[in-house]
Amino acid sequence: METLLDKMDLPAMVRLLTGAAMFELHGEPAIGLEPLAFSDGPSGVRGPVFSGGRPVALLPNATLIASTWDTRVAHDVGALLAEEAHAQNVHVVLGPTVNLHRTPLGGRLFEAFSEDPLLTGALAVAYVRGLQENGVGACPKHFVANESETDRMSVDSRVAERVLREVYLLPFEMLVADAKPWAIMAAYNDVNGVPATEHGELLDGVLKGEWAFDGLVMSDWFATKSTRAAANGLDLVMPGPAGPWGDALVEAVRAGEVGEDAVRDHVRRLLRLADRVGKSAPGPAVDPADPARREHLRTIAAAGMTVLTGGDVIPFEDTPVLLIGRHALRTVAQGGGSAQVRPPHVVSIADGLRAALGDRLTVLDGVEVRATPEPADPAFVSDPETGAPGIRVTSHQADSSEQASTHQPVPSLLLDLEGGPHDGAASVVLSADLPLTHTGDVEVGVIGTGRWTVRLGDHSHEIALDATDVGLAVLDPPHWTVRLPAAPGSRLVATRRPPDEGAPVGVAALVARPAPADDEDLIAAAAAAATGAARAVVVVGLTPEQEMEAKDKTTLALPGRQDDLVRAVAAAARSTVVVVNAATPMLMPWLDDVDGVLWAGLPGQEGGHAVADVLLGRCEATGRLVTTFPAADGDGPAWSPVPVDGVLDYAEGLGVGYRGWTSDTPLFWFGHGLGWTTWTYHGAEPEGPDALVVTIENTGTRTGREVVQVYLRPDDDPVRLAGWAVADAVAPGERRAVRVTLDPRVLRRWTSGGWGPLDGGRLVVARGLGDVRLDVARPAPADR
Ligand code: BGC
Repeated sequence: METLLDKMDLPAMVRLLTGAAMFELHGEPAIGLEPLAFSDGPSGVRGPVFSGGRPVALLPNATLIASTWDTRVAHDVGALLAEEAHAQNVHVVLGPTVNLHRTPLGGRLFEAFSEDPLLTGALAVAYVRGLQENGVGACPKHFVANESETDRMSVDSRVAERVLREVYLLPFEMLVADAKPWAIMAAYNDVNGVPATEHGELLDGVLKGEWAFDGLVMSDWFATKSTRAAANGLDLVMPGPAGPWGDALVEAVRAGEVGEDAVRDHVRRLLRLADRVGKSAPGPAVDPADPARREHLRTIAAAGMTVLTGGDVIPFEDTPVLLIGRHALRTVAQGGGSAQVRPPHVVSIADGLRAALGDRLTVLDGVEVRATPEPADPAFVSDPETGAPGIRVTSHQADSSEQASTHQPVPSLLLDLEGGPHDGAASVVLSADLPLTHTGDVEVGVIGTGRWTVRLGDHSHEIALDATDVGLAVLDPPHWTVRLPAAPGSRLVATRRPPDEGAPVGVAALVARPAPADDEDLIAAAAAAATGAARAVVVVGLTPEQEMEAKDKTTLALPGRQDDLVRAVAAAARSTVVVVNAATPMLMPWLDDVDGVLWAGLPGQEGGHAVADVLLGRCEATGRLVTTFPAADGDGPAWSPVPVDGVLDYAEGLGVGYRGWTSDTPLFWFGHGLGWTTWTYHGAEPEGPDALVVTIENTGTRTGREVVQVYLRPDDDPVRLAGWAVADAVAPGERRAVRVTLDPRVLRRWTSGGWGPLDGGRLVVARGLGDVRLDVARPAPADR
């Protein structure tokens, strides 16, 4: 490698240290270096593009995977992603996300595993091994203290040293020690006053120094704020080709402000990455709709689903079912932002139950769940030129000549950002025909910055939409809609010219759907249909308006009038089960009115089948919660994600998540989940150093799976998960001795300058801290 480095002069080396494009690096023919390609992660491999891409497998999102508490599942996920990456010639997948669920308002929690550092670290280790054992690099992110999204490019996360070490750095430390990731991504935020991309103490000192990380540190996208300061620690600026390094870094080295050794080390790490990923050839094409792939995704999703209440009514016999809710029809399969992929299909919960129940299923739409419009369902719009589902996009240059004309299967595209055929056009026209079968009013409109003219039949509207920056123009674009009468087969034409002010780039999408019914009428219709029904299932949830990158939530209340819908159905039906389609905590003011609640997460492309599987008893919903659910807004150790004067104070210290719940009682504890059988815990015996053998018995009637959780309750510090083990296929009446190893990395204490022992305390065996089964003294150090 040193000889390769010697072959390059300074500008040649520096050129390699900024991306060549959004997701690609430069190659260097002089040393035989091929350009590397990256792709987001973490719930599918979108390919080296920001939007669209080819159809790829959409996995259940991280919280659902984590809810299995099963490192074998996380390993499987990594291996599956490696196949998807190979097929697209992607060398590094940008994941997993190992930031913690600090406040339940965090917009991006769906992408991250849990509120607990040990559970997060262990799952991430398995996920990274699954990827890298199959020749694809992982890039755990975002290093570090990036737990919320508000002002994410500038917020200063203030975290005490001990808290940083014991809580937020721990998953990264476990990864470096146990999985050796080939890359790590430095976060947008500052950590204790220093940008994460410039944090010499953390990047050079802790990560590369103390932990001996030999991989590559890349910046989060557009996160690098300086030339000189970032050059000590960060190895690669993403994306490119522009950025703060390039010529400025060459000059800084020549001026003696940055050592040439530092540049050589960055390039060395880049070449090491190229060497590691270069060992395997591109793989065969994979079909995300292949039956085996579909079955795999369905099984993972079902395993993570969690029975919150009503262990005696879930699963139920396949009686006639009345299914209600917008999320039943339009099930949300993934969160919003850079993690999004384009799946081949999404099996809605209505589709899944219909496949299982046929005409024993009745489906009813529910209340509105979004405040902002979505791009049209491709099934509702067709390309005027070809008649295919989707829209036609035609762009023109300033002299009115046509630039390009393309069919867009998903009625949304990204302009002027990633080298598309319509980039740089003076105007772009999005057009579609509405269905011939549709009568009545429609809601139509546009999403994205620009000066728009929208025409439907005789109606014409002029609208100007702005966004203050590129991030918002892409992730949270402005929108406009109107309700209009429309003749069957009417043509909708929206012409976009770049905005006068604000971000010229971003999303351009067409909105079109049948005008929605009034919420009050939908609730009344649901209650009428539910009257006397033997089995009602109401599906509620969040949408990417709440669970998305770049934005945090402001409340845990369900959006729209979903709570009213649940109450109305519960009052009318003989039995009501609620299915929750969301990744993160929400309030359930109707909890006592319903017979059972199944948490279904963001279940990926096969979600609807997985829900049918666990509701109807094809398999057990074996999930255990990975985040504590507050009972009311404001409850819990950390709430607001909004920085004060630029600072977000991690004031709860070590007491993050369940560790810090003291005064209020949560709605559900981290670790809670009923499954489909019942368990007696007979006893726990310490065995050897830091292990406990717990004897459990399945006292129910079905063969089940138990997650045996052991917590350490230290004398003076907050309680913490110290280990767990999964007991598979325990038959009814069977007793099983389950060995739980306690991880030494949570049995220690950081005092400034180093690690010391954390002795004493008690070991608590619990099915979540709300259901403690055993409490034993921890053996004294001499006995361990
Ligand atoms: C996100 C990263 C992502 C990157 C590339 C950023 O906005 O924070 O997680 O990998 O974009 O899409």
